[in-house]
Amino acid sequence: MSGLSNEVRYVSITLRSAQENLGFDVQQTLTAPIKSLPCKYFYDQRGMALFEQICSLPEYYLTRVETAILKNRAAQIIERCPTDLSLVELGSGSSTKIRFLIEACLARQQELAYYAIDISPGGLENGLRQLLQEYPQLRVVGLVGEFADGLSYLSTHAGQPRLVAFLGSTVGNFAEDEIARFFTMLRQELRPEDRLLLGVDLLKAPVVLEAAYDDSQGITAQFNLNILARLNRELSADFDLAAFRHRAVLNRERSRIEMHLVSVRDQRVRIGDLGLNIDFRQGESIHTENCYKYSPARMESLLADHGFHVLCRFTDPHDQFCLFLVS
Ligand code: AVI
Repeated sequence: MSGLSNEVRYVSITLRSAQENLGFDVQQTLTAPIKSLPCKYFYDQRGMALFEQICSLPEYYLTRVETAILKNRAAQIIERCPTDLSLVELGSGSSTKIRFLIEACLARQQELAYYAIDISPGGLENGLRQLLQEYPQLRVVGLVGEFADGLSYLSTHAGQPRLVAFLGSTVGNFAEDEIARFFTMLRQELRPEDRLLLGVDLLKAPVVLEAAYDDSQGITAQFNLNILARLNRELSADFDLAAFRHRAVLNRERSRIEMHLVSVRDQRVRIGDLGLNIDFRQGESIHTENCYKYSPARMESLLADHGFHVLCRFTDPHDQFCLFLVS
């Protein structure tokens, strides 16, 4: 490892001109016969703040349970990884969770390089500086760009074996074809000595799942509706937020929670920057997100299909959430 620094280093690794194109995506998805919006557009500044709030809601068990697993099992996870490890996190997330892995690594080695890959610099800045202050033995690098570009940057720059953490059940927001592309990309970028730690929310009782996505304080509803506020601001649209209702429902056949924004009346919405009028019937919905829930066996078989081998599974006492340590 090349020397410690008391500053977070940022590297822009956007190679594949991954510029988000909000206007193009919105035009495609809102003019389709079944209207939808890509869930990646939830995360503007307010969306990120609302998501932080969601993570500490009583109904949203995911963050709490995954954090508890990491707290209790970080040492065992690190024990099963090669020595002289460096740590990579896909989506910087909250630095609360990663710190358990950092501490377990630092109990075994003197210094540690931690690479956080995130598409938004804003998403990275929050926690990284604080981590560096707390752990002087840490070298922190923020890689701004796509996961694939970040990992291929690391294959040429980080010589040590890496533990790549993809936490928070973000993999649950990927459709089947996206999962296949994601695992194929990981398989190409990871070396035999690297490990993957994948956080996955498990299938469970519908009432528990639906409450997690439709909380009593209405924070998830605000999070969902915020995507329309974003279109109003960034595309000069005139969505009336009071004319759409948040709906979260379990689709049992597809093992996923679906989030929708349901039009409460017949209405026409203007999207000024796209020169578009969109008509909604009363009860018609915009499908905004899918959150897939897995059985451990199903996730293991998906991983195996892409050449990954599960070394260990770490769950909570109620089997709500699972961390897969994969080689
Ligand atoms: C980011 N992702 C894992 C969250 C989830 O649970 O699927 C996003 C979310 N949507 C509504 N609440 C949380």
